[in-house]
Amino acid sequence: MTPASHTPTRILTGITTTGTPHLGNYVGAIRPAIHASRQADTQSFYFLADYHALIKCDEPARIQRSTLEIAACWLAAGLDAEQVTFYRQSDIPEIPELCWLLTCVTGKGMLNRAHAYKAAQDQNEAAGRELDDGVTAGLFMYPVLMAADILMFSARKVPVGRDQIQHIEMARDIAASFNHLYGEHLTAPEAVVDEHVALLPGLDGRKMSKSYNNTIPLFAPQEELRKAIMGIVTDSRAPGQAKSTEDSAISALSRAFATPAETRAFAKAFASGIAWGDAKQQLFERINAEIAPMRARYQHLMAHPEEVEAALQAGAAKARAQATPFMHTLRRAVGLASLDMTVSTLPDKPAPAATALPQFKQYREADGLFYFKLTGAGGRVLLQSRSFIAPRKAGQAVRRLQTEGAAALSSLHASLEPVEDEAALLQALAALQAAAK
Ligand code: TRP
Repeated sequence: MTPASHTPTRILTGITTTGTPHLGNYVGAIRPAIHASRQADTQSFYFLADYHALIKCDEPARIQRSTLEIAACWLAAGLDAEQVTFYRQSDIPEIPELCWLLTCVTGKGMLNRAHAYKAAQDQNEAAGRELDDGVTAGLFMYPVLMAADILMFSARKVPVGRDQIQHIEMARDIAASFNHLYGEHLTAPEAVVDEHVALLPGLDGRKMSKSYNNTIPLFAPQEELRKAIMGIVTDSRAPGQAKSTEDSAISALSRAFATPAETRAFAKAFASGIAWGDAKQQLFERINAEIAPMRARYQHLMAHPEEVEAALQAGAAKARAQATPFMHTLRRAVGLASLDMTVSTLPDKPAPAATALPQFKQYREADGLFYFKLTGAGGRVLLQSRSFIAPRKAGQAVRRLQTEGAAALSSLHASLEPVEDEAALLQALAALQAAAK
C-alpha cells in the first residue's frame, strides 16, 4: 500500500503597497496571517503587491516608502521569512508574463463587470463625465494581474476582505478558461473571508480606515500611540457613572488585544463607572504591551533597510524557484516554445475532457442583486446574466433556458450579458435539453 499522498494547503495573499499599516491592519490582517502561517499543514505565500500599487499611486517615493514600511511591519510582527515565502511582486518577472497569457483568455465582458471598474464608471456618470474618464487600462486589468499572482503559485486558499471576493471568483473563471484551452495546469483558488476577525473602530468610533482619516498608527513612537488613544472620542459620562461596553470604541479596541479574563475585568470596571481617562490609560498599556517589542524591531528594520531588502531577495529566489519552471511549462502549453524539434515537441491541442453536464449557478452579489451563470467544462463561464431584483425572476429565466434551450435566448436577451463563445453556449444548452428529456 502506498502512503496517502499529503499536500499542505497553500495560502497566498498580497498587500498593496500604498500606505502605512495601522492598528486595524494589524488586528484584521497581519496578526491573523502570521498566526495562520504557523499552523502545521500549510504553506504560506505573502507578498507586497507593488505592481498593483502603481494602479492607484503615481508617487514613486511613496510606493518605495510604503513597501519598506509594510515589509518591516510584517517582519517585526513576527513573520518568519524562513518558514513562509515572503516576496515583492515586482521581483517576480514571471507574474506579468503569466498576466499576459491570462489576458488572452479573459473575456472583456467579465472585466466590464468588476466592481472597482463599475464604481469608477458610476462616479463618472454621476458627475456627468465620459464613463471611462480617468480610468486606466491598469484599473481595468486589475483582476487579471491578481489572478496571475494567485495562479502562479497554485494557491488554494486566498484570505481576503469581503471587497475582494469577486476578484477570487474571476481568478477561478480565468483558470477554468485557460485549462479548457490548454489542459489542466492552473489550480482554482478559493476566497477565505474571516467573519470573526475583529473590525476595529477608529478614533471617531467609525470603522478604522485610511479613507476616514481616523487610524491609529501601528508602530508610532510610544508617546504618539498614547496621545492617539487619549484622543479617542467618548461620550460625556463622568467618572462614577456606569458606562456601556456595547458601543464604546475603547472596549472594542481592548477586546482585540485582551484575554477573555481581562475583557471581563474591563467590563466590570465600565459598569462601576471607571473614568474615561483611566479606561484609555489601561487600553494604552494593554496595546503597548503587545506592540512594544515589535516596535523596537520595526525601528531597527526601518533604520536598516538593507536587512529588509535581503529578506525580500531571499524570498524572491524562493518564489522564483517555483515560478520559473512553472512558467516554462505554461509557455509550452500555449505554444511559446523552442523551434528546435529535438528540444521541444509540443502537445497537440488537448482533447476537451469528457465532462459532466454544464451547470446553472444562481447567486447573490455584494450589490444585493441576484444573478445566474451557466458554466461548462472546468467551470468556464458560458453565459452570464445581468442583475435581477427578484430571485424568483432569475430562477424563471434559468428554467426557461433549461427547458427551451437556445430558443429562449432571444426573448431573455435584455437580461443577459453578451455571449463570448456562442458555439460552446449552444452546445451546452443542447446538452442540458437532451439530458432533461
Ligand atoms: N487586491 C488586494 C487588496 O487590495 C491585494 C492583492 C493583490 C491580492 N494581489 C493579490 C490579495 C492576490 C490576494 C491575492 O487587498
